[in-house]
Amino acid sequence: MDVRLEHIGKSYNHSKRPQHIFNNLSVTFPSQSFSVVFGKSGVGKSSLLNLIAGIDLPETGEIRVGAHEVSRMNDRERTLFRRRHIGFVYQSFNLIPVISVLDNVTLVAQIDGKARQDYTDRARTLLDRVELLHKVDEYPDKLSGGEQQRVAIVRALVNDPDVILCDEPTGNLDNRTGRRILEMIAELVREHHKTLIMVTHSLESKKWADHVYHVGNKTLTLS
Ligand SMILES: Nc1ncnc2c1ncn2[C@@H]1O[C@H](COP(=O)(O)OP(=O)(O)OP(=O)(O)O)[C@@H](O)[C@H]1O
Ligand SMILES: [Mg+2]
Repeated sequence: MDVRLEHIGKSYNHSKRPQHIFNNLSVTFPSQSFSVVFGKSGVGKSSLLNLIAGIDLPETGEIRVGAHEVSRMNDRERTLFRRRHIGFVYQSFNLIPVISVLDNVTLVAQIDGKARQDYTDRARTLLDRVELLHKVDEYPDKLSGGEQQRVAIVRALVNDPDVILCDEPTGNLDNRTGRRILEMIAELVREHHKTLIMVTHSLESKKWADHVYHVGNKTLTLS
């Protein structure tokens, strides 16, 4: 699925004064490719991913993910769309502290009524791949930052989403672990024909990227 943003305008209100984040931003992230997005802190990288995922809505313009017109959906449609098609690795992980690692990564599949054996097997395979199989029954607050980050990555992949959005997925990982995670994500994109958009400060990630973009001046440019 490709991701198309057309003429996007977005601002946030701070003490009643609007802060313009995007002005007439148009871009297409091609289907089945690994796109990396760079940009200074505060330029709107997380906001961009929130718009694509339908967590937030633009004031003007259209957002399409494949044939889905995200910017025209109501709240409920956007929630379902996100559950079925998007895997999101949040900058701050957003793990639920009171349930186990295994429940965290399979919660959406459970809500969706999928077969328990299927999603549990897939979750275990992915947790093994990020070397966390021994922590399946642990609670997230007993894990290190890097371990939580790897759980968040697994959670985004368990449902086999078409589009994966990653917000600084290696920010808390040592170089070796970060590289392995990037390799794993890149492999998934190629083997399973996913569309990946990753926000990062890691210049090394360019090595795996098909396309590199920069956010700045309220827009996004291909570099
Ligand atoms: N929900 C919101 N309400 C109000 N302002 C917001 C909201 N989300 C983001 N902003 C503002 O939009 C700007 C861009 O924020 P965003 O989180 O997208 O930056 P970023 O590029 O991801 O930065 P970083 O690299 O530090 O994560 C910031 O000035 C922020 O205060
Ligand atoms: Mg951010």
